[in-house]
Amino acid sequence: MNGLLLEEAPIQAAGEACLLDHYLAMPDDSMDARIAAAREKLGADAVVLGHHYQRDEVIRFADFSGDSYKLSKAAAETNAKYMVFCGVHFMAETADILARPWQQVILPDLNAGCSMADMAEIGQVEDCWESLERMGATGGVGIIPLTYMNSAANIKAFCGERGGLVCTSSNARAAFEWASARAGKILFLPDQHLGRNTAFAMGIPLNEMVVWDPYQINGGVAPERLRAAKVILWKGHCSVHQRFLPEHVDRVRREEPGMQVVVHPECRWEVCQKADALGSTERIIDLIERAPEGSSFAVGTEIHLVNRLEKRFGPLGKRVITLDESGCLCTTMYRISPQHLAWTLENLVEGRVVNRIKVDEGVKRWARVALDRMLEIGVMEKRA
Ligand code: 13P
Ligand code: SF4
Repeated sequence: MNGLLLEEAPIQAAGEACLLDHYLAMPDDSMDARIAAAREKLGADAVVLGHHYQRDEVIRFADFSGDSYKLSKAAAETNAKYMVFCGVHFMAETADILARPWQQVILPDLNAGCSMADMAEIGQVEDCWESLERMGATGGVGIIPLTYMNSAANIKAFCGERGGLVCTSSNARAAFEWASARAGKILFLPDQHLGRNTAFAMGIPLNEMVVWDPYQINGGVAPERLRAAKVILWKGHCSVHQRFLPEHVDRVRREEPGMQVVVHPECRWEVCQKADALGSTERIIDLIERAPEGSSFAVGTEIHLVNRLEKRFGPLGKRVITLDESGCLCTTMYRISPQHLAWTLENLVEGRVVNRIKVDEGVKRWARVALDRMLEIGVMEKRA
């Protein structure tokens, strides 16, 4: 079918909900005009937030684009009634926790989750904490639970209630230093790689870190090792970033002399050790932006961002390629399509809120404490 005909087809009779299926049958490029028109009608009532991994057809409509930290700040500061979050579930939950009571958060596709966030469930984390207490691993020097932003709201609340906080990849170092100043031990959830990379950069040797596997008795770690460890890393990872391997860096070094390797700290420790720089998505962009003409970069992060960097900086005389030639895609971020965005916005125009993300009030209270602590420490990015 041709896009024009579809555009002209009525997708909604007066008073009826706009049906998502109708939108999904239409081509991407037929969504642009509809999204723009709906945005115009909604004016200052709605704000579109977009993570850097979103596709071009979606991110171009974002009022604010950024990494997780920047987006959470934007969510805390906006006065818009509706926040349409083009990102994944934990990001929309965070926006709802930071929102004021009269604001509503929408996730255009409820299937846009994060496999890493799903690797730590609250029951498992509570069991882990109980085991640590039973084994005396929390006593003496004290322990602070710290969670990566990429976790469910109830995990954030768990940390807030026990004196801990949330961090993102742009302030993990600051959060680790904050926690280290208050306790002798850190339980870091759920990304073992970000935790290991950050702790190692602070001078904590690998043999003072243990990995807690929630599917094994006592996390699969001997009690004496748990008692001696400075950092307990949850056994979680990002399936996108874990695909970057040390041999990819070796190949770039061999085939592209002079090229800088920049990776996200969700990559394995072995990859980060070989890289020239690490950083959140925002920092990666900033690094390339500030580099002189003629610089070249192999970037280890999600492919939509890498492709966008290539397009943006190529004409400015900077070369950007992906570290892994096969390109790592975050399939859940990809779920937010222009069709989903048009659907949510046109429903809003009609006064209907679809796909609202609403965190339970009890969970919100402590999750907010953990997020406020994060916002207080701000961003302090060093070479992790
Ligand atoms: P950033 O905070 O660096 O944007 O990372 C978010 C994320 O999910 C990376 O996988
Ligand atoms: Fe989650 Fe990884 Fe996707 Fe980030 S890139 S949202 S950590 S699955």
